[in-house]
Amino acid sequence: MYSRITGTGSYLPPRRITNHELAAQLAQSGIETSHEWIVERTGIEARHFADAGVTSSDLGLEAARRALDAAGLRPQDVDLIIVATSTPDMVFPSTAAILQQKLGVAGCPVFDVQAVCTGFIYALSVADAMIRAGNARCALVVGAEVFSHILDFKDRTTCVLFGDGAGAAVLQASEEPGILATDIHADGRHVGILCVPGHVSGGEVLGDPLLRMDGQAVFKLAVSVLEETTQTVLAKAGKTGADVDWLVPHQANIRIMISAARKLKLPMEKVIVTVAEHGNTSAASIGLALDHGVRSGQIKKGQTLLLEGVGGGFTWGSVLLKY
Ligand code: ACO
Repeated sequence: MYSRITGTGSYLPPRRITNHELAAQLAQSGIETSHEWIVERTGIEARHFADAGVTSSDLGLEAARRALDAAGLRPQDVDLIIVATSTPDMVFPSTAAILQQKLGVAGCPVFDVQAVCTGFIYALSVADAMIRAGNARCALVVGAEVFSHILDFKDRTTCVLFGDGAGAAVLQASEEPGILATDIHADGRHVGILCVPGHVSGGEVLGDPLLRMDGQAVFKLAVSVLEETTQTVLAKAGKTGADVDWLVPHQANIRIMISAARKLKLPMEKVIVTVAEHGNTSAASIGLALDHGVRSGQIKKGQTLLLEGVGGGFTWGSVLLKY
């Protein structure tokens, strides 16, 4: 028994902010940045920001509906919902439970996975394992984030990098492959290089509730772990980089994507790149890129896709699949 992606969907909030607009906004608080710096260091040209009050489940709902439509299914056909997010609607219950309510269904198991930018990879891996074990037949996997709500707009080293959005995939039990192999990891020794350290206690937010990152440390670690996990997942499936039709990477930084492609000996023409328009949407980014590749006609049925991501935790992983 395999699990197979039968539908994808995504959603971006309508408010698109270009680098020029963001730079002008930051300049009002005395923060200096430029379109040129952001593009040269990251490849980002614009990002979408959700309005205040719009939540991850709101974005996830739109992406989920589109993925279900693409699969020709209704919400009541789903028997497992997993949401990957680092910007949950509430401390509890899970954003998956809120999404389930918004989809108008009840009864199936739902839960969130928290692996920051590797969240979509973790969620796909868990859904695949549950389907192969016979514990689910139709899983809805959603990555959804409102990172703009946790950015410090006085910190130019982070606020220019992230955006909001959601990506979704429907995974169904199938006798044909499907997901060929998965590989997920974490190393908690690196908690401090990318985190939102604050927490809620006694009715107050204690500590710093905004995103903090040591960009250079993240960059170095990302490049090495991505090489390791992509080689591992290919080896698990008895494949090499030459078998990959499309690399669908986490969209954090174009330079990290170029390095990953080079190590796999893949030309950039085989890499789905959405970072210019989306920025880094954390757990949503791989789902958004996958859906973009599918709907733009680049990704075709039967092709082999390599999805990979890294994120806070530190977490990293990859999924190899036949689309
Ligand atoms: N505009 C203008 N100048 C800036 C900005 C900005 N927005 N941000 C930093 N600078 C300046 C710095 O102050 C520094 O100036 P100095 O030389 O006078 O000190 C200079 O630019 C260079 O800064 P660096 O930090 O060395 O720049 P770098 O080339 O490393 O790029 C970046 C920074 C883009 C953050 C890079 O390190 C990176 O992409 N890291 C990985 C980030 C990442 O992938 N994060 C997401 C992980 S996924 C997740 O889990 C959320």
